[in-house]
Amino acid sequence: MTIFEAYNTTKKKLEAAGIEDYVFEAKQIIKHITGFNSVQILSSYNNKLTQFQENNLTAIIHQREIRYPLQYIFGEWDFYGRSFCVGTGVLVPRADTETVIDKSLEYLKNTEKPKILDLCAGSGCIGITLGMEVLEAEVLMIEKYPEAFRYTLKNIECNKADNVKALMGDIFERAGAEGEYDLIVSNPPYIPQAQMSEISPETAFEPETALLADDNGMEFYKAIIDGYSASLKKGGMLIFEVGIGESEIVAELLENAGYHNIEIKKDLNHIDRAVSGIMEE
Ligand SMILES: C[S@@+](CC[C@H](N)C(=O)[O-])C[C@H]1O[C@@H](n2cnc3c(N)ncnc32)[C@H](O)[C@@H]1O
Repeated sequence: MTIFEAYNTTKKKLEAAGIEDYVFEAKQIIKHITGFNSVQILSSYNNKLTQFQENNLTAIIHQREIRYPLQYIFGEWDFYGRSFCVGTGVLVPRADTETVIDKSLEYLKNTEKPKILDLCAGSGCIGITLGMEVLEAEVLMIEKYPEAFRYTLKNIECNKADNVKALMGDIFERAGAEGEYDLIVSNPPYIPQAQMSEISPETAFEPETALLADDNGMEFYKAIIDGYSASLKKGGMLIFEVGIGESEIVAELLENAGYHNIEIKKDLNHIDRAVSGIMEE
């Protein structure tokens, strides 16, 4: 089978499996199995795949046909221009979460040697990105589940993020709250039980513990505001990623807890995605 034939077969099978981005995915899969970049692929269209590459392709297509996430198959995914290891047990970093990074960096521009706490860290994509973008920062990340925590640690190591540390702990027990921070950031589980049946087939392979939140999706926001507001320096910022339709409620929770300058920032799809507030001076 030539690279050209492999690309066409992959596209057809992925489309038949109901995958929306089948063209993009087919390209990524061919790159992955050949180790070629886009230019090399174009100039090698008539090259034959080796038996090993063909077997690999068949296995990947089978996995995608049952909608096992492409990111888990590849074992890594890009976030804010860096690569993060991912696999079963950890949430795949989403482009939406880059909204939280942009807002955090805007705030950190005016803070010297900031201390940052990332709650519910998972792959560590938020804490590690902030640590790598602001090298003089000191970052602590908290993650409860060992299956996810091994990726938190692995990604600190792979990204050589020497200014980033991680602790396995529970935000409901206020893990990490003993410090004093300029910025506390969290993308917690936020999907209400009623919406769990609407998640994509790929998301169904991701850990429920990273997605589901009681109290109509609000339990983590409430626990973090109650448990960690006292750990923010005066003038410090608390910033959350929020789910669809949750921004106004979270903004109100922050306001009721004494935060000011509350802002809601939209993601690239024009959906409210980040809610932030400043602790009173
Ligand atoms: C929505 S994921 C976010 C992961 C990562 N921050 C990101 O943006 O991709 C939420 C994370 O919170 C973790 N988590 C769930 N309950 C927790 C708890 N009680 N304390 C600390 N972490 C928790 C999950 O294991 C998961 O890794």
